[in-house]
Amino acid sequence: MTLKGKEIILGVTGSIAAYKAVYLLRELVRLGAGVSVVLTEHAQKFVGPLTFRTLSGRPVLSDLFDPQTDAAVEHVELAARCHALVVAPATANLLAKAAHGIADDFLTTLLLATQAPVLVVPAMDGAMWDHPAVAANVATLRSRGVGVLEPDLGELASGLAGKGRLPEIDAILEALHRLLSPVRDLSGERVLVTAGPTREPLDPVRYFSNRSSGKMGNALALAALRRGAEVVLVSGPTSLTPPPGAVFVPVGTAEEMREAVLQHLPSATIVIKAAAVADYRPKESNAVKLKSKQEGLTLTLAPTPDILKEVEARKGEQFVVGFAAETHDVKRNAREKLESKRIDLMVANDVSQSGIGFEADDNQVTLLDRWGGVIDLPRMPKLQVANAVLDRILALRAQMPANVRR
Ligand code: CTP
Repeated sequence: MTLKGKEIILGVTGSIAAYKAVYLLRELVRLGAGVSVVLTEHAQKFVGPLTFRTLSGRPVLSDLFDPQTDAAVEHVELAARCHALVVAPATANLLAKAAHGIADDFLTTLLLATQAPVLVVPAMDGAMWDHPAVAANVATLRSRGVGVLEPDLGELASGLAGKGRLPEIDAILEALHRLLSPVRDLSGERVLVTAGPTREPLDPVRYFSNRSSGKMGNALALAALRRGAEVVLVSGPTSLTPPPGAVFVPVGTAEEMREAVLQHLPSATIVIKAAAVADYRPKESNAVKLKSKQEGLTLTLAPTPDILKEVEARKGEQFVVGFAAETHDVKRNAREKLESKRIDLMVANDVSQSGIGFEADDNQVTLLDRWGGVIDLPRMPKLQVANAVLDRILALRAQMPANVRR
């Protein structure tokens, strides 16, 4: 992510989480943004202006009537120039003032003066967040197009646990990126993505699985979210953090993945099955740990359900995409799978090559569609591959005559 050339206003209000705004500022500057920090009077009781001034390399603004600066004029100029205004942390008081158009200090005046997209990141005590007055203010702001991030669940400054923590810096940056991202060509779409491996238990400590890292599926979920889609991510066990904003459904076995996919299928408009589903599972899963000192061990395996085939049998108008992990005859095998599973688009990748496919950050794929089209894509980062797959889905769907949409 880069914010080069972007002018951001960072508003900080009087919450104990104000110190985290320092880390946010550092990241914004590191990503290339020019940042003007606006502190409320109460914010300065938590963190002094010098810290923000030093890290942003700019004067910190707070007093609308400061005789040293032409602040009253400056706020109009700043409001017109910025690409986005982020308030983090935002107190319940700030939410109330913003919702009701009160402009009694520099930050709230800016909120009224700017035409730029606004992102508000609340942090407060859990009981305050749950209060109907706060909920109503959040709803008002959202109805006006203001982005309001949900606070995280966890330990709060009061020592109690609840929903009120400032979200992680990465989640704030991701939301900002989406706010600034101009492409919203998937808005109104509901994309169901599967990712990662499945784990088929042999006994309480052992399982069969594969090398899928979940990176390709997560990249697809992230790309779809950035382009405005609602995303459900059904994922087997991975070490990744799901992209903020996705409905995340963690699963273990192929059977659990099947259930989750079939549950979310009816509301989806696009289904992308990037998961590497185990094809077999141990026929018997032992309730106790198998002992290792046996002479030899013979296991009987049973096939897992083919989720993609079931999706195809039950689906309505959804556009369905599969992934084919191949080690040889990539295109021929992928075409056969495309036809036997009767899906719309197959993303074929050669998992025998190092640097692409399983566990790697890059991928190199061929897109085969059921109308005979074949597109070889160059090697690129998985997020770019994800965007190319989404581009192709939209292009094919636009060409599809209505009677072909089953
Ligand atoms: N898939 C599935 N359910 C399974 C196996 C695979 O839904 N039990 C889906 C995968 O998510 C992927 C596509 O089918 O989108 C192709 O997966 P792949 O493992 O390449 O193909 P298989 O059908 O398992 O064929 P093979 O392992 O014999 O190559």
